[in-house]
Amino acid sequence: MRTNVLLWSLILALEIMGQQSGFQRQPLLTALRSELECLEKDELLWRVRTLQTPSAPHAIVDGKKVLVLCSNNYLGLANHPKLKQAAIAATKKYGAGSGSVRVIAGTMSIHRKLEQALARFKHSEASITFQSGFATNAGTIPALVDEHDLIISDELNHGSIIDGCRLTRAERRVYKHRDVSDLEKQFQNTDQYRRVLVITDGVFSMDGDIAPLEDIVKTIQDHGAILYVDDAHGDGVLGKNGRGISNHFNVEGQVDIEMGTFSKAFGCVGGYVAGSRDLCFYLQNKVRSYLLSGSQPPMVVGACLAAVQLVEKQPGLVKRLWDNTGYFKKGLRSLGFDTGNSETPITPVITGDSKKARTLADELFKEKVFVLPIVYPMVAKDKARVRTIVTSAHTCRDLDTALSAFEKAGRAQQLI
Ligand SMILES: Cc1ncc(COP(=O)(O)O)c(C=O)c1O
Repeated sequence: MRTNVLLWSLILALEIMGQQSGFQRQPLLTALRSELECLEKDELLWRVRTLQTPSAPHAIVDGKKVLVLCSNNYLGLANHPKLKQAAIAATKKYGAGSGSVRVIAGTMSIHRKLEQALARFKHSEASITFQSGFATNAGTIPALVDEHDLIISDELNHGSIIDGCRLTRAERRVYKHRDVSDLEKQFQNTDQYRRVLVITDGVFSMDGDIAPLEDIVKTIQDHGAILYVDDAHGDGVLGKNGRGISNHFNVEGQVDIEMGTFSKAFGCVGGYVAGSRDLCFYLQNKVRSYLLSGSQPPMVVGACLAAVQLVEKQPGLVKRLWDNTGYFKKGLRSLGFDTGNSETPITPVITGDSKKARTLADELFKEKVFVLPIVYPMVAKDKARVRTIVTSAHTCRDLDTALSAFEKAGRAQQLI
């Protein structure tokens, strides 16, 4: 009897709470429209421009001939004749589609060749490829940890890492950006966890700064933790012949999971993990985005393979990328722009306010320079910026043209 009274009181209390805090339901389109209006008011809407020609330093964008300074095509490979030929040859040999997921009937000999070439390039025992870098992070992280484990993640890690972490049931802790002493602090009270997985971007995609990998390796070794590095912006950029961040810091073999993408310096699309044979075999059996989604089509795999071979054989591409990076960064800084802590070809021009970032990008587009404003939620609300990325395909003349346009637009907006 007493239990019944308690139960009814509880139900009544819940009903009252429900009525008090209940949502006023709106038709979906009304709700979406009002959300879009909020985004527009805060200058946070994406206005997507369209390329009518290949991704290259000079392109036609929204009908206008412009200098492109915002692609991830670091080595200018996206429109390289060798990659295009390889894509055509792979299509002729294997067809347009792979026909299946990798584990059923979607592994072709060309997928194997790419994995072997990539393992050679990364100096790892093996590699495994995925449909995209996003699918790699979203699938691999949950395959490695569960409710018995802890993830410790840099606060500025890429969204695909964040989503990968959210898909696990592991505990999560976040350490201050690139701060190894704060990382060290996160190891307090961790005895109860079966595994501790530390995850960091190699090069941070919005700021262009580099993770202090040598110190991170030492910290994880001291604590018997596991290290996962996202080298999306390090491949083709850092290390000898663009081998990536582990090569750059001379810690090859000490990063347990090296993840990367073919969508940036390699000029194509796709993701990968490089590591031990056992790790790759395990991931082949456990990663849901690998097991449950169609494999990369042959044309993409053929182009990725040609890209890896080309980067390996032509160190001049990486050297030119760095020469251009040094020249352009110095130019922006000497004009007085705030370029943050960038150490790589990703150079932000920080405006703080999102409206200012938009206006700067619009003014530059009028000057025939294509850059994009990067605003919240990709960066903090007060850290809006225009992000520039030079490539090895830009000429000195291109960079001078861009610097003049930045000077004009920057002065007009009183940024310099
Ligand atoms: C650091 C980082 N990781 C992962 C990804 C996802 O790679 P993909 O474009 O291959 O999906 C990106 C791409 O934006 C990235 O910048």
